[in-house]
Amino acid sequence: MKHLEGSSLLRIADLEPDQIRYLLDLAGHVKAEYHRGARPQRFAGRSLAMLFEKRSTRTRAAFETAFGEEGGHPVFLSNQDIQLGAKETIEDTARVLGRMFDAIEFRGFAQESVETLARHSGVPVVNGLTDAWHPTQALADLMTMEEHCGRLPGLRSAYFGDGRNNVSNSLVVAAAKMGLHHTVFCPPDLAPPAEVLEMARSFAKASGATITVEHDPTNVPRETAAIYTDVWVSMGEEDSAKDRVRTLSPYQVTEQTLAAAPEAVFLHCLPAVRGNEMTAAVIDGPASRVFDQAENRKHTIKAVLLALLGLS
Ligand code: CP
Ligand code: NVA
Repeated sequence: MKHLEGSSLLRIADLEPDQIRYLLDLAGHVKAEYHRGARPQRFAGRSLAMLFEKRSTRTRAAFETAFGEEGGHPVFLSNQDIQLGAKETIEDTARVLGRMFDAIEFRGFAQESVETLARHSGVPVVNGLTDAWHPTQALADLMTMEEHCGRLPGLRSAYFGDGRNNVSNSLVVAAAKMGLHHTVFCPPDLAPPAEVLEMARSFAKASGATITVEHDPTNVPRETAAIYTDVWVSMGEEDSAKDRVRTLSPYQVTEQTLAAAPEAVFLHCLPAVRGNEMTAAVIDGPASRVFDQAENRKHTIKAVLLALLGLS
């Protein structure tokens, strides 16, 4: 395996399948440690800059607790607090933070921003969500599917809703890397970008994955093991809320959707809007694993930070 020390995680596509496998195994190991009550101090003396242009509950909490409980010093910097984007270029911010921090997390709008930070800071940068990608979410998604289904290769997964958002893009690529049979159920005008599908299908050749796009939401294969959805309106797209509800209503995950795949677990990256992308009965029902999935954000993020900092 090509070592991860010193590299950045900007898109799930940046990771080779064996690196994903390594991070998932490490996440399982740190999760077990955490539940035993062990708190080794592997980040002692290290600092992490956490830049947020958008809101967050899970990603912020996962980075802060994963890093802080092991002796590291996470510093939360929202765009209300720092000069980034207002009075200072991303390049200059990157150079300054790179002199003071061991690693940087960035959540924001443009993928180009996180790429620029990585190019100019000289330290590992982790994408905590951009408009295009959400790689740390995809790692937690894979971990949760594996925990509940016992394996990844050959597993059938389905995503319902906005097929062109950051979470769907990342899931498509993660599934392609790890050999899943993944279907995106979406309306034609919210289908995955052609370049994402092309990239995913090139990864699928090596893994045996299949990636399909399906517009009929009732066409769910019975053996589907995981049914996933995300909000209909992503952060920054609030202006299209009315249109989205109209376009995506047929893709709401309901008890009927779950009945078509009786073994499936229900997943959602959260935050969720009950009555939009899924009914309350689905997210609060027996198939739902969304809080396991949320917890796994912390363990997968800890694994990423350990690996990128050369501490694993
Ligand atoms: N899933 C996720 O990224 O949640 P937050 O927006 O709360 O960080
Ligand atoms: N697609 C959502 C994910 C939130 C975690 C958004 O970008 O708002």
